Amino acid sequence: MTIARVGVIGAGTMGNGIAQVFAQAGFAVRLVDAAEQALDRARGTIEKSLAKFVEKGRMTAPERDAALERLSTDTSVDVLADVDYVVEAIFEDVRIKRELFARLDQLTRPDVILASNTSSISITVLGAATSRPGRVLGMHFMNPVPLMSLVELVRGQSTSAEAMLTATKLCMRLGKTAVEAADYPGFIANRVLMPMINEAIFALMEGVGTAEAIDTVMKLGMSHPMGPLTLADFIGLDVCLAIMDVLQTGLGDPKYRACPLLRRMVAAGHLGRKSGQGFYKY
Ligand code: CAA
Repeated sequence: MTIARVGVIGAGTMGNGIAQVFAQAGFAVRLVDAAEQALDRARGTIEKSLAKFVEKGRMTAPERDAALERLSTDTSVDVLADVDYVVEAIFEDVRIKRELFARLDQLTRPDVILASNTSSISITVLGAATSRPGRVLGMHFMNPVPLMSLVELVRGQSTSAEAMLTATKLCMRLGKTAVEAADYPGFIANRVLMPMINEAIFALMEGVGTAEAIDTVMKLGMSHPMGPLTLADFIGLDVCLAIMDVLQTGLGDPKYRACPLLRRMVAAGHLGRKSGQGFYKY
């Protein structure tokens, strides 16, 4: 089966980045979101990102125009009836995702792979909502999607080796490196990243160092591109908290308990960059 048409569901930060990289790589992309406004915003974000690549000489203006022409948007998943591959990137709610996967299962050809960009929901649970669990897998992109070269591919309990191979080849066409992870809470990326961020928040809470000191240690001492508190603000503190809770619930070990300061900041609505206030002001 050749993959030419790709459906992306959810036009938030991750969904629009995913739609962009597929369009850049030559696929016809249908980006779906129930909110028209989100689709307009996504198109604007993609245009800006592509403009940056043209400015930097990473792509030509005609290449940018062709990528934009390959992208269409719609408010109904019904337009995905004839796509060859689907990536779901809606918000992290297991009930709604399962309903969506059941709907996609009815709507798309039986040979189509249904991938989820989830960072914390079990792929096995999503696969079980369909009649094709062998063709359901995790395709976890990193933010910002157009710049980050990793895709974490998650193999659910029933995901077939063939589906994993197809997804790996697809990542190569996108210019990304795929790494396989098993379906355990947080997979690899968040299993390792979130406890580090959480520990940085404990260090801040206990007064081991200021936010700037903690971030500088990790940037200059460990060559991380962003310090952990800056990165937490970038990811969203609500997202970080939700992932810590998934790790603790799923793995049952108190070492994954979310830092009380993180919980308090989320309760206060200090969610990082998107709310204008996190560990830093924006
Ligand atoms: N498209 C195109 N260009 C972009 C862009 C985008 N989406 N986003 C940023 N850029 C450009 C910037 O405009 C900037 O261009 P100029 O040099 O012309 O100003 C350039 O890229 C570099 O950006 P910055 O100068 O702002 O900063 P930087 O050099 O630190 O690079 C970064 C930015 C790539 C984001 C880097 O800081 C980085 O790698 N940070 C860590 C990101 C990370 O860890 N992501 C994973 C998060 S975890 C996750 O996603 C999974 C999860 O489940 C939570």
